[in-house]
Amino acid sequence: MSINELKSNNATTLGLLHRATGYDLGVWLMTFGRERRLRARVLDLARLATGERVLDIGCGTGTLAIAASARVGTRGSVAGIDASAAMIARARRKARWARADVRFESALAQALPYADGSLDVVLCTIMLHHLPRAARVACLAEVRRVLAPHGRLLVVDFATSPPRGIGSRFHRRHGHVAIEDLANLLDEGGFRIVERGPFGAGDLHYALACLPREPFALPER
Ligand SMILES: C[S@@+](CC[C@H](N)C(=O)[O-])C[C@H]1O[C@@H](n2cnc3c(N)ncnc32)[C@H](O)[C@@H]1O
Repeated sequence: MSINELKSNNATTLGLLHRATGYDLGVWLMTFGRERRLRARVLDLARLATGERVLDIGCGTGTLAIAASARVGTRGSVAGIDASAAMIARARRKARWARADVRFESALAQALPYADGSLDVVLCTIMLHHLPRAARVACLAEVRRVLAPHGRLLVVDFATSPPRGIGSRFHRRHGHVAIEDLANLLDEGGFRIVERGPFGAGDLHYALACLPREPFALPER
């Protein structure tokens, strides 16, 4: 889907999607070379375990999904979707280089190409702020649909209000999710937040959520 189609469908707030070229270098610079450690922290917060079925929404160039595939092993499965075909092309190349078994597909967060109840864990890092509110609501409804009853969702995003750090200032033109908006969205979307807090890098915050009617024991980290 082209950027103009995305915008006219109200699928993203962006006038400009991130470019796949230079994205990894940008992340490396913004994380002061700590990207690998920060990606591992995302997987720790999600309590990702061997054998789980994982989806990374707005996966960008695929670094997190590739790291996730090493955690879940051959008994598990990892998929990544992104609205940008260029991001998906780069993610596929990176997975080939890393010999990682990850299925990357171009798709929208608001229309996930997965069956109901087919996933254990959904990851959504630094993506929700790209979406207008209606699209965020649609995305969370889709996450709820594709998660298995015992499943969990981990969201990481720029959520300090007003935005302060370099990352969120840079991303402000793309949109912003204040932490309370994020909590309300999850609540209205039918999720129960089981853990939340500062992510430990800039203005990033995280929320780990499950489906409310299911008994949920937070796995050890
Ligand atoms: C800041 S990047 C984050 C990428 C990756 N999650 C990471 O942590 O590096 C946001 C990504 O969301 C994607 N995106 C924006 N709107 C989207 C939508 N409606 N559906 C799916 N992906 C979308 C963009 O193409 C971009 O790759």
